[in-house]
Amino acid sequence: SSPSIDIFPSAPIAPVSKYIFSGFLEHLGRCIHGGVLPAGPTNFPYTPRNPCPSKDYVETPKELLTPSGFRKDVLEILRDELQMPLVRWPGGNYVSSYHFEDGIGPKEQRKRRPELAWGGEESNQFGTDEFIEWCREAKMEPFVVLNMGTGTLAEALHWIEYCNGTGDTYYANLRRKHTGRDEPYNVVYWGLGNEVYGPWQVGQMTAEAYAAAARQWAHAIRLLDPNVKLVGCGETGVTQWDAVVLDGLADKVDLHSIHLYTGFGPRDRSQTEREFARSVYGPEAAEYAIETCRGLIQKSRLARNVSAPVKIAFDEYGPWDETVGTPRNGLEQIYTLTDALAMASWLNVFVRQSDVVALACNAQSVNVISPLMTRPTGVLRQATYYPLLLFSQYMREGTAVRLAVNGSPKFEGETLPTWIGTVKGPPNVLDASAVLAQDGKSLRVAVVNRSERESYTVPVRVALAGVDSGREVEVHELWHPDVKAKNEWDGKEHEVVVKTRRAKWTGEWTFREHSFTLLVLPLQ
Ligand code: AHR
Repeated sequence: SSPSIDIFPSAPIAPVSKYIFSGFLEHLGRCIHGGVLPAGPTNFPYTPRNPCPSKDYVETPKELLTPSGFRKDVLEILRDELQMPLVRWPGGNYVSSYHFEDGIGPKEQRKRRPELAWGGEESNQFGTDEFIEWCREAKMEPFVVLNMGTGTLAEALHWIEYCNGTGDTYYANLRRKHTGRDEPYNVVYWGLGNEVYGPWQVGQMTAEAYAAAARQWAHAIRLLDPNVKLVGCGETGVTQWDAVVLDGLADKVDLHSIHLYTGFGPRDRSQTEREFARSVYGPEAAEYAIETCRGLIQKSRLARNVSAPVKIAFDEYGPWDETVGTPRNGLEQIYTLTDALAMASWLNVFVRQSDVVALACNAQSVNVISPLMTRPTGVLRQATYYPLLLFSQYMREGTAVRLAVNGSPKFEGETLPTWIGTVKGPPNVLDASAVLAQDGKSLRVAVVNRSERESYTVPVRVALAGVDSGREVEVHELWHPDVKAKNEWDGKEHEVVVKTRRAKWTGEWTFREHSFTLLVLPLQ
């Protein structure tokens, strides 16, 4: 049968959380030095283990920086175009040997440290005060991850007191001394460690040991600051780690984190069709992970008799081919239209799962496996930037509603290596989500056609309301004849871009092969 889409605006899933458009900054490669800050000779963090293009180093001119010395271009894109509401920092793996006191106080006295997660050295020129100042300028809420590797509970409490303390206490006063201002930073979101399950992590623990430690940390942190929201360290949402940690923490945390990247190697580049499919269908694993994790959360809440909800923080996600973005190049990756389609499917998943996904951080926000790449004097918007932009602009303010993709062709091939995740079954080639705008006047429908070669003309029906034929609809489309098309410097910056037009509605739409389309349908 030929496919069709039915949308049910009167069947809400949940309001979309603006925090699913959040970002992530880690001290890694050119994220901070080169992305947030200009890459200057005194703070250039690279060593032979982590080389970077220092040979063509150019100082970023002062007029391209904010008064505090941050790159204006990156900050403006994140704030004004992507409108990121929140950003996670300082890692990532980096945080597991990070000590916040190294990064506060007079810059010339800050200690350079060996950096254990990615190799290289940390200058500590960008610490808590600089991060908060950047957040203020970027109009983002801070989300700080605590060091549960080499860090102690005492140190975590000091960090929180430094940020949020309002009394006449040592670390609150230290903040006042360093900033010359009285007001606290009011950091609400705090992560209880990063990927503590991983053998790559400094301070790896068993799930039982982590849950026991995190319970104690959460208890003490809430005594210090009852207004915080705590994020427990989950794995991929479907593992024994997740089950044990949730059982231990369901009454202690507000959110449970999941990390998943799609497009994992090793890849076989001669198998181009398989590689396309593996990338664009990868986010199916995220949907499976969220649905499984929702069940684990419910089970643990029941066991501990918890009435407060525990939501999912998908606080690292995105396409990442580990054979391309490696520690040697600071995880820099050039993304293609294929990756952009994956990004659109990721966002469809988060919208569809709005009842439980409260936060998602695209990893990462600049230069490191990122939609944005910098040079000293400019920013390149990669193909993956455009789905983020469209979702943030059109799928944010409103309620995710139920929809049915009827009769979609199925993809039957291999999607992901089994160690990365499972999917529910052969995925639909057509992947969609819908949001009813807050004012009720329009419906936003995001559709990814994940077929490499077939376009589909699809009746799109809006239950009860309908969209009158002949009405003008807004169409945003990301498409290119070549699935490997990408944006590059020096004249090829606009190969993969969104085209926007208006069309007269006829009740159906033709979704081109390997395309992402966002329709804005008027309801009244
Ligand atoms: O985002 C890159 C890395 O991926 C993070 O440091 C880590 O948390 C994850 O493994």
